Amino acid sequence: MRKMLVVAAALVLAPPVHVAQDLGVPSKEGLVVCTSAPACDAGASVLARGGNAVDAAVATAFALAVTHPSAGNIGGGGFMMIRTATGEITGIDYREKAPLRSSRTMYLKTDGTIDPSLTNTGYLAPGVPGTVRGLELAHKRYGKLRWREVVEPAVQLAEQGFTMSAGLARGLNGQLAGRMGKFPASVAAYGKPGGGTWAEGDRLVLPDLAKTLRAIGSEGADVFYKGWIADRIADDMKANGGLITREDLAAYQAKIRTPVRGTFHDYDIYAMAPPSSGGVALIEMLNILEPYGLKAKGPLSPAAMHLEIEAMRRAYLDRARHLGDPDFVTVPVAKLTSRDHAKTVAATIDPAKASSSVELGRDVVTAPPAEPDETTHFSVMDRGGMVVANTYTLEGGYGSHVVVKGAGFLLNNEMGDFNKKPGETNLRGDIGTPANLIDPGKRMLSSMTPTIVVKKGKVALVTGSPGGRTIINTVLTVVLGVTEFGLTGREAVDLPRMHHQWLPDHVTIEKAGATSDILAKLKALGHDARGGGGQGDAETIWIGPDGTPYGVNDKRSADSKAAVPRSLTAPTGGR
Ligand code: GLY
Repeated sequence: MRKMLVVAAALVLAPPVHVAQDLGVPSKEGLVVCTSAPACDAGASVLARGGNAVDAAVATAFALAVTHPSAGNIGGGGFMMIRTATGEITGIDYREKAPLRSSRTMYLKTDGTIDPSLTNTGYLAPGVPGTVRGLELAHKRYGKLRWREVVEPAVQLAEQGFTMSAGLARGLNGQLAGRMGKFPASVAAYGKPGGGTWAEGDRLVLPDLAKTLRAIGSEGADVFYKGWIADRIADDMKANGGLITREDLAAYQAKIRTPVRGTFHDYDIYAMAPPSSGGVALIEMLNILEPYGLKAKGPLSPAAMHLEIEAMRRAYLDRARHLGDPDFVTVPVAKLTSRDHAKTVAATIDPAKASSSVELGRDVVTAPPAEPDETTHFSVMDRGGMVVANTYTLEGGYGSHVVVKGAGFLLNNEMGDFNKKPGETNLRGDIGTPANLIDPGKRMLSSMTPTIVVKKGKVALVTGSPGGRTIINTVLTVVLGVTEFGLTGREAVDLPRMHHQWLPDHVTIEKAGATSDILAKLKALGHDARGGGGQGDAETIWIGPDGTPYGVNDKRSADSKAAVPRSLTAPTGGR
C-alpha cells in the first residue's frame, strides 16, 4: 500500500525560483486530506452540505472505519485537535483505557517473561474503545450539522459498498490468510462472499458494520457504550476470555485536554497533551533545535541531521522517563516543554560526535519495544478557517484482528502500548518504568501527534502521521520543513524522514535520504545510520504565503487524497 518516496535528495540544491511548482490542491472552500480517497470524499461531501471542519472530521473518521479497516476505526481510539476560526484550541482525548479487570502482570508468562502474542492479537489485547465517544464529544461541542447527517456517509459506504483499491485487497487477503483468519466473525465480515481472494476493483459491502453505524447515527454514542452494541462486545469478550465488560463500556468517557504549546521562530506550535507523548516530545525537540540555525546547514545536510538525531535521542529518553496517563501519574509537562530544560539537555550535545544512548540514560537503561506502525491521520479545514488534526488508531494493522460478532467492526490491540513488565528495563526491548504501567481505567501512552501550527494568529500548517513511535519524528520533519527551512507544505511532506528513539541506538533514514554520502558522514560522526523503509503518512494542510490553503496528501500512501467540497451524488465533472 505504501509507495516508496521518490524525492530528490538534492532538495538542498533546488534552485530558489520554482517553475510550475506542485504545491498541493488549493482550496479556500475547504479541504479533507486523508489516506483513503472514498473517506476523504465522504468528509468533503459534508463540507459541501454546509458542515464545518468538525462535522467533516467526524464524517471522515466514521468513513475511514469502513474504507481503511487497518487503522480507521470505531473500535479503537485517538486524539483530535481543533482550532476554531476565532483561535480557540482544544484537544479531545479519546484514547482507549485498560479494562477494570486488567492488572500489571496480565501479559506475563508463568516464567515471568512477556507473552507478546497476547497483545498482538485476540480478546485480551483490546483496551476499552474511545472513538465513538470522542467523535460525539467533538461534535457536541463544535458540530453544526445534525449527528445523523455526519454519520450517514459512512453508513452509505458500508451499506452500498465501495470499490477496493489494490492496497486494501492485498491487505485483506494477507489478513484472511493470517491473523484475521483465526477468528470466524472476522472472516464472516471481511471474507469474499463465495470464497476466493479479493482483487483491486472488487466491491466491499459490510452489512453488519452498516447496521452498527446506522444505530450510532440514529441513537447516538450511548448505543455503543450502553445499548446493544455494548452487549455484543461484552458477550464476545465473555465467550472468548476477554476482559471488557458492560461496566467498562458504560464508564468510558472522552476528555478535553489543554494542548501543549511551544513557540518556534515566529510560529506557535499546538500539539496533543498526555496521554500522548507526541506534543511534549515535539516541543522539546523544537526547543533544543531552535538555537542551532539549521536552515543555514540545509535540511539534508549531515550537520543538521546529526543535531536532529541528538534532539530525538534526548526527547525519547525523557519520554521513557516521564510520560504516562496524567490522570494516574504526574507528568512534568511544563518542565519538559520549557526552554530551560532544552538548554540543559542541549548542553550535553556534541556537534561533532554522536552520544551514547545507554550512557545518557543510565538511570533508566531500557530499550522500548518496537511499536507497530498502523494508525491513521487526517487534516480538515473549512471555508471559515476552522481546522482539525485527527490521529486515531487500532494500534497494529487491523488491531486485535477480532471483529465483534454481529456488529461488524474490529477491536484494537492498544493494550500493547503499556509497559508490560513492572520494574524490568533491559536492552532486549522491554520497559518497566512506572509512568506507563497497566492500571485499571488508565490510558496507555501514545505517540500520536496531531499538530496545528499558527503564525501571527493564522493557521500555517495542520499535520500528523501514523507510524507508532516514528510519528513524533515524522511530524518534526514536516514542521521543521515549513518553519525552519522555509519549504512549501509539499516539499516538507516529501522530505526524506528519519527516526531515532533513544534505544535501540540507531537511526533509520528513508531511502531517498539514505545516500551513501549521507550515511558515510553520519557514521563518521559516530551514528549507527541505516537506510529504512517508508516512514509515516503525513496527510497535511499547508497555508501558502498569500493565505491560500493547500491540501498536501502524502504520496507514500497510494490511496491518499486531498478532497475539496463536492456532493457525493454530483455527476463526474460536476460541482
Ligand atoms: N498506537 C500508536 C500510538 O498510539 O502511538
